[in-house]
Amino acid sequence: MSTDILVHTEDRITTLTLNRLARKNSLTAAMYAALADALEAAAADPQVRVVLLQGDATVFSAGNDIGDFLNQPPSTQESPVFRFLRAMAGFPKPVVAAVCGPAVGIGTTLLFHCDLVYAGDNAAFSMPFVNLGLCPEAASSLLVPQMMGYHRAAEALLLGEPFMAEAALEVGLVNRVVPPTECNTIAQAQAKKLAAKPLSSLIETKRLMKRGQSAQVLECIAEEAASFGRMLQEPAAREAFTAFMEKRRPDFSAV
Ligand code: COA
Repeated sequence: MSTDILVHTEDRITTLTLNRLARKNSLTAAMYAALADALEAAAADPQVRVVLLQGDATVFSAGNDIGDFLNQPPSTQESPVFRFLRAMAGFPKPVVAAVCGPAVGIGTTLLFHCDLVYAGDNAAFSMPFVNLGLCPEAASSLLVPQMMGYHRAAEALLLGEPFMAEAALEVGLVNRVVPPTECNTIAQAQAKKLAAKPLSSLIETKRLMKRGQSAQVLECIAEEAASFGRMLQEPAAREAFTAFMEKRRPDFSAV
């Protein structure tokens, strides 16, 4: 069994640890499937009240594995990545995230579906979809402008410019900036506080906070997924992925 995703349930908390450090926790189809399975199990298990999602003190996630994008791109709405995104967006219980180091692409966009986010002061968020010949996913085209305001969202999504932990705190994407070596422990302490509260109140409060938008978020994920899936096969993205594998700058002059 793969150890790229570690799943551990204890004291009403399911902890999901991204554990593919040699590849900077970039996410493969198998990892998305493991995450989706774990989320579905945690949602259904009455013994679980909270999910904690973490990397380590140096890296959260380098986003989608680029080799996977080339070799087995998600082609339908049932592909593991889209299953994972729907599981995150619809997860009924609180999700706490601990983010240190790079959080690229889906490593940032999945945070818009978490309830509490703690960031190491080394956290670097980026959504470089345009730089890869792609478009936003995870309902980020809806949620990023909503949270940051349009112009800051345009810097993040059109220019693909990274932003650091303090900027993420300022726009409200993270709750607190902490020393990286303490980040997972602090997030776990917050998860423990949630796990001591009544499950029915946690679920109902989250549902009520999200109810105005949950259908729109799922629609957005589906529309983005259709465009994203098509764009993965087009020349701009193929050039970007090949350039990454060949460790050179992409040449978009012909696309
Ligand atoms: N897919 C596949 N492999 C990846 C990867 C990804 N998304 N991100 C990193 N890796 C690999 C690197 O190719 C490298 O492999 P190598 O040791 O065989 O050369 C290894 O992981 C270490 O990465 P490296 O780039 O040397 O680490 P770094 O600390 O200098 O930089 C990042 C870390 C995350 C900033 C950088 O790796 C990066 O920008 N990755 C690509 C992010 C991306 O575009 N993701 C897609 C988003 S949709």
